[in-house]
Amino acid sequence: MSRRNILVTNALPYANGPIHLGHLLGYIQADIWVRFQRMQGNNCTYVCADDAHGTGIMLSAEKAGVSPEEFIDAVNQEHQRDFADFLVDFDIYHSTHSDENKTFSSLIYERCKASGHISQRSITQLYDPEKDLFLSDRFIKGQCPKCKTEDQYGDNCEVCSSTYNATDLINPRSTISGATPVEKESTHFFFKLPAFADFLNEWTRSGTLPTQVANKLAEWLDSGLQEWDISRDAPYFGFEIPGEPGKYFYVWLDAPIGYMASFQKLCESRDDLNFEDYWGVESNNELWHFIGKDIINFHALFWPAMLKTSNFRTPTGISVNGFLTVNGQKMSKSRGTFIMAETYKQHLNPEYLRYYFAGKLGSNPDDLDLNLEDFVQRVNSDVVGKVVNIASRCAGFINKGFEGKLSAEVSEPDLIADCQQTTTEIAELYEQREFSKAIRLIMSLADKANQYIADKTPWVLAKENPQALEVQNICSTGLNLFRLLIIYLKPVLPNLANQVEEFLNVSALQWQDAESLLLDHQINKFKPLMTRVESTKVDAMVEASKENLNTQENSSVDASDKVDSPLSNDPISDEIEFPDFAKVDLRIAKIVEANYVEGADKLLKITLDLGLNAAGEQQIRTVFSGIKSAYKPEQLNGMYTVLVANLKSRKMKFGVSEGMILAAGEGDDIYLLEPHKGAQAGLRIT
Ligand code: MSP
Ligand code: ZN
Repeated sequence: MSRRNILVTNALPYANGPIHLGHLLGYIQADIWVRFQRMQGNNCTYVCADDAHGTGIMLSAEKAGVSPEEFIDAVNQEHQRDFADFLVDFDIYHSTHSDENKTFSSLIYERCKASGHISQRSITQLYDPEKDLFLSDRFIKGQCPKCKTEDQYGDNCEVCSSTYNATDLINPRSTISGATPVEKESTHFFFKLPAFADFLNEWTRSGTLPTQVANKLAEWLDSGLQEWDISRDAPYFGFEIPGEPGKYFYVWLDAPIGYMASFQKLCESRDDLNFEDYWGVESNNELWHFIGKDIINFHALFWPAMLKTSNFRTPTGISVNGFLTVNGQKMSKSRGTFIMAETYKQHLNPEYLRYYFAGKLGSNPDDLDLNLEDFVQRVNSDVVGKVVNIASRCAGFINKGFEGKLSAEVSEPDLIADCQQTTTEIAELYEQREFSKAIRLIMSLADKANQYIADKTPWVLAKENPQALEVQNICSTGLNLFRLLIIYLKPVLPNLANQVEEFLNVSALQWQDAESLLLDHQINKFKPLMTRVESTKVDAMVEASKENLNTQENSSVDASDKVDSPLSNDPISDEIEFPDFAKVDLRIAKIVEANYVEGADKLLKITLDLGLNAAGEQQIRTVFSGIKSAYKPEQLNGMYTVLVANLKSRKMKFGVSEGMILAAGEGDDIYLLEPHKGAQAGLRIT
């Protein structure tokens, strides 16, 4: 297959505030796709910039007491730092307030005008007479004309959801100066979008968009297109319209043109890239835009129409992400779930978040919930418990017994072949941006690899003879499986992959490396890779994100915040003597595996790690536990719980149960006991 030439753009974040986890969803999504393409050997260029224009930024700068230029420069630095922290690997991060963007914006405008697609007419708008500024809807508040609620914005009411014109508000005021706005006329310039109805009807249905998005656009297209207002009056921070003093391009006109400007700027420093090859109307290269669902109309209506009429190519495809919620709700400053990239970084490893997002992302713009408990659980059980665990189980034996040398052959050809052959399917899922499905598949391979090692118990063999060839074989097989998993996860976890490359003593892993194995190969000493997510750090991050608002939102207790009664109807059992209790040997145990039991209604088969015994041997127990109604096996993996370790083994219908784990309740309300974070497997409960 020949190499594809792909240009990927990400929505340009506004230069008036910090990057938060909601933003990061779309950037991480695109970055994973880009890294995957690069690993495939495709030429994939990835550009972004700050969206630096508009009234909002102008006012923010004023408030900060600096010029807009100084303001956007400082924000640009912060944004670049945040993206680098989250391993978002842009080829260039530019700004829409640039010479390149000014040139392209003027060019595109002139071409639209020359083809007869610009009109002008006078419109009436609300104006702040104190600030001498036309007011857009979000700078006007007043009483809703329908339900009469105070303090509603100029376009719609948050209480009764009615939409209206700002001029309909009762007692309107400027949120900038507090003055009562007056109506004022001025000339505006419009892009004649209705002329492109046929083109857009076709373009939006030609496979360029996810189906859900195409359907949404069809609704808009069917209800008729309006001319698009592309100008704003001075004072405005932006580009002046050529030949129209005092008139500026509306920020959304020059924002997508910023994609071209960034690419142009990059071309100046890169011999392998040529502007025309990617943007020329004859281009055969791919152009992909990654955006959030709130900005679809700008990218799938105005933008292709403008490109079309100004003789540039249109995008190959648009990928759209849904919105991020945290713990099932909109991000909230009072709840501490409006989390900035920087705050996250101070507490947690960014790769955890990349993994969590990947595990939930698909190609459709569905909203994605970051459930913080699930986040801890999933990262720990998958990345740490299933993937990294393979290396930590195998590496020591190779380093100690065989001076770091992997065996010349692997011992489980079927399993290895299975993991290698899945490469095509995983690649296809990445290509289609079905990351959650790819992750599920990769984790099912990890399960098999762990099962293999658990079955072979190299630690038992090594105990007898640390230099037994069988030990070398098993652990070399384990490490080869681990290497394959890391190749497949590298687009999501690039840093982890780099550490593994160092440990395995190999050059940067590419996708096609999955075809080969590491045989008779010298590896380096194993250093701990990714560590577990500690939920105390998650708590600290939430605490640090809480804004102390002395508002009702913060202090009021919701009627639904009722506390469940802790009482149960179960009478307390008869008294016992302490020695009776002391006979029970309770231990902390880590669940290393949980499975359904064929034919059993209530039972799960659970494999527990009890840590090392005095002789340094791993103690593994299997128990059958009646908790199927309340837990799925995948929820349990990696969890710590309490085991009655000296309970006599019982032969059950499905196998021998070696102990019992502690849980409370019954039916759907079963709760497994979990020790406080940090408790190690094997600790005795006293
Ligand atoms: N400046 C415009 C984009 C111009 S593109 C030519 C803009 N900026 S933004 O800062 O508001 O958003 C940047 C990106 O982050 C957009 O794709 C937006 O959809 C996305 N998100 C912003 N908040 C988000 C969530 N809470 N959840 C998911 N994506 C979110 O829009
Ligand atoms: Zn209302």
